[in-house]
Amino acid sequence: MLQKVKEDPLLESLRGTQQKYGEDYWSFKNASKRRGAHALIHYPAMMVPNLQGSILAAIKEVSPNSQKVLDPFVGSGTVLVESMNLGLDFTGVDINPLAVLSCLTKSGPYFIDAFTDRAAELVSKIRADRITRHEATFLGRDKWFEADVAIGISKVARNIKNVDALWARRLFWLALARVIRTCCNSRNSTYKLHIKKAADINAVADPVKSFVETIETYKKHLQEQATDWSERGLLKQGRYQKSVSITAGDSTSTLQEAGLLFDVVMTSPPYGDNKTTIPYGQYAFLPLQWIPTVDISPSIEAGVLANTHALDTASLGGSARNAADRAEVLRNEFDSVRKYLTKLSSKGSGVKRFGAFFGDLDPCIEQICKSTNPGGYHAWTIGSRHIEGIRVPMEEILEEMLDKRGMDTFGRIHRSIHAKKMAARNNLSSTMNTEIIVLAKMSAKKK
Ligand SMILES: C[S@@+](CC[C@H](N)C(=O)[O-])C[C@H]1O[C@@H](n2cnc3c(N)ncnc32)[C@H](O)[C@@H]1O
Repeated sequence: MLQKVKEDPLLESLRGTQQKYGEDYWSFKNASKRRGAHALIHYPAMMVPNLQGSILAAIKEVSPNSQKVLDPFVGSGTVLVESMNLGLDFTGVDINPLAVLSCLTKSGPYFIDAFTDRAAELVSKIRADRITRHEATFLGRDKWFEADVAIGISKVARNIKNVDALWARRLFWLALARVIRTCCNSRNSTYKLHIKKAADINAVADPVKSFVETIETYKKHLQEQATDWSERGLLKQGRYQKSVSITAGDSTSTLQEAGLLFDVVMTSPPYGDNKTTIPYGQYAFLPLQWIPTVDISPSIEAGVLANTHALDTASLGGSARNAADRAEVLRNEFDSVRKYLTKLSSKGSGVKRFGAFFGDLDPCIEQICKSTNPGGYHAWTIGSRHIEGIRVPMEEILEEMLDKRGMDTFGRIHRSIHAKKMAARNNLSSTMNTEIIVLAKMSAKKK
């Protein structure tokens, strides 16, 4: 359901869509299965491609000169692929190397025949490999993997390292990341690393077989994507015709250093600190023990993979340092924060948890706004979160933070979530069954 805050041509266009298809259009209840590049990886809290694509298309319609899109929390790359679909230039940042690998892979090149040849050669080498040496050594390896499984993953990893082209290795690493998630001893029902019951451990998990099957699905999805984009002139000889830049790192410092300006910011930030909401870092930890970071990006710091919590600690809201003081600063600055904090008990850890996350989000928003061109559009997809059982008014706080940096909020889309099965199983369902998209525009004269 579309909610008007004030008039804007984009709202007008979205209203037309809603009138045509009905109020529940934004829920994309019957969204078809993920295909093409969108189908290459499972990642926590993935956005709905059609939804973001349709908002992006509406922005393009009302603001035809909008060409440069930024997603500062790019994750698996939903907004990346939807931007490529519309022939836009794209910049993405994420602190999680698995997310970066996913985006680099999706951005191409799409050399389908060369991929098929290399895949056939790789699979035959893996099948002929009789070496029983481990390719990864890390604390807990024998807890998270059965002995045969670790040897099987090592065979795949060893042979991927010998593939000659980086673009092909990245595709194979991404496929292996999927295999590692399905063959490890961590429960599939949660993003946290959580050991399976002994009875549930799949003693016959076969990483080599699973890798070969994944590669078959990759061939199909890459072909789907390449055909679609080539027919529309977006790919020429397998290469995307506009620019894509993906950076591994923290958004605030990356954007500050880059000093670039964007016409559209489309993103879904984390909802809270990764420890108490979604642990993207833990989700990626096991695959990243096998994938050499040099094949992802030279800027990845080894420290973020040092243990199962390091990446989540380095992420937005991951550090509790001065958290209570940071909450106080925000209390004095924003009405929405003041109203909310008075509801939290002064004895519990709620105020600190609030301060740790929003204390990081606020400077990040400031930098994102600095990186937005006058007249540029923002679309922020946010879930709702509770602290001490009290709902955090994420949309009000976000809007106030944006407003302070020269943005005008003009609308919200409220939608129900139909596909977050994993979240439901994580017991997050009560807090995550609705989502809000905050729509805002940078004033012609930035503050
Ligand atoms: C909600 S997810 C994005 C999911 C994405 N929209 C998709 O469709 O896959 C939020 C992302 O923010 C990233 N993140 C957390 N802290 C960050 C930081 N300081 N800088 C950059 N990215 C960060 C997480 O790694 C995660 O991938």
